[in-house]
Amino acid sequence: MKERIEALKHEIERALSEGRSLKDIKELQVRFLGRKGPIQELMLALRETSAEERPSLGQQINRLKEEVTEALHKLEKNFSSSEEEERLRQETLDVTLPGSYRPLGRKHPVSAMLDLVLEAHRDMGFSVQYGPDIESDFYNFEALNFAPDHPARDMHDTYYIEPGVLLRTHTSNTQVRLMEGHPPPIRIAAPGRCFRNEDITARSHLFFHQVEGIYIDRGVSMSDLVQTLEDLLHRIFSTQVKLRLRSSYFPFVEPGLEVDISCLACSGKGCTLCKKSGWLEVLGAGMVHPEVLKSGGIDPEEYTGYAWGMGIERLVLLKYGIDDIRLLFDGDVRLLRQFSFV
Ligand code: PHE
Repeated sequence: MKERIEALKHEIERALSEGRSLKDIKELQVRFLGRKGPIQELMLALRETSAEERPSLGQQINRLKEEVTEALHKLEKNFSSSEEEERLRQETLDVTLPGSYRPLGRKHPVSAMLDLVLEAHRDMGFSVQYGPDIESDFYNFEALNFAPDHPARDMHDTYYIEPGVLLRTHTSNTQVRLMEGHPPPIRIAAPGRCFRNEDITARSHLFFHQVEGIYIDRGVSMSDLVQTLEDLLHRIFSTQVKLRLRSSYFPFVEPGLEVDISCLACSGKGCTLCKKSGWLEVLGAGMVHPEVLKSGGIDPEEYTGYAWGMGIERLVLLKYGIDDIRLLFDGDVRLLRQFSFV
C-alpha cells in the first residue's frame, strides 16, 4: 500500500510538471481528484489494510490529496493570469503608430481677412451689423445723394434684378439703414458682399467684399477720421503704416478721400507691388454728407460723422503680395494651402 501511494505521488508530480495550459490543469484535476480517480481508489483500498496500519496510511493518502489539490490550485492561478496577459498583449493598441491622415479644411484668406478686419473694428469700439445683398435703388443710391440721373451712378456698373431692385454695389447701402435704426452715437462696422458688372481682370472682379465703417456723433471731425484710420490700418497690417490722403469724389461724403498707405513691400522706396510709387491705395472715406444724414433722419446741424469702405480682397492682395485677384476665386488648393488660418 505504501508503495502504491509513493508511485501515485510520482505519477502525479510528473503529470503536473507536464501541464502546459489552463485546459491541461483542468483535465488533471478531474483525472486525479475525481470520484473515480486513483486517490479515491486508494481510499477505498484502505479497507483491505490491517487495523494498525490504516490510520497512518489514511493520513498519508489525505496528505497526498491535499498536496495535489493545492498544487493544482496554484498552477491554475498561474496559467489563468499568464493566459490573461497573453490575451491582453495581443489586444494592445500601439498608440505610437502613425494615425490615418485626414485632410483638414482651413479658412479662405478672404474669410480670414474679413475676420481680422472686423476684430480690429470691434477692438476699437465698433459693433458689427449686416445689410442686405439685394437692395433697393433708394438705399444703394438715392439716399446716398445719387439722384436718379446722377453721373456718379456710371461709376457703378450695376446688376438690376428688376427696376428699382439691384445687387448692392457697395456696403455704403447700410449707411442710411443704420441711421434709421439707431439714434446717434452710431459706431458700426457693416461687412458684406458687393457686385459690379465689370470685366474680370487681374485687378477687378464682379464679386467682392467690403467692410463699411461709420461713426456719427456730436463734434466728430476729420482729424478723428484720420487718427482712427491710422490705428485701424496698423491693426490690420500688423505694422506701422504711413497714410496719404488724396481728395476724391463720392456723392455721399464731403470732403471725400482716397487713402493710401506706405508700400508694405518696400516701405515707400518704390517696387513692383506699388508700381514704383511707394504708395498703395487701400480705401475710400470721408465726412458723411449732410444730405445723407438728413436721409437717415439725423440733424446735420447737431451731428457730424465719418465713414469708410474698404475692399477686403484688395487688403488680402496687398498684405500677401498676390498680384491677381482671380487667384482668390479660382478655388485652386495650391494657393489655399499656402495659408494656414484656423
Ligand atoms: N462706397 C465707396 C466705394 O465702394 C467707398 C466709400 C465708403 C467711400 C464710405 C467713402 C465713404 O467705392
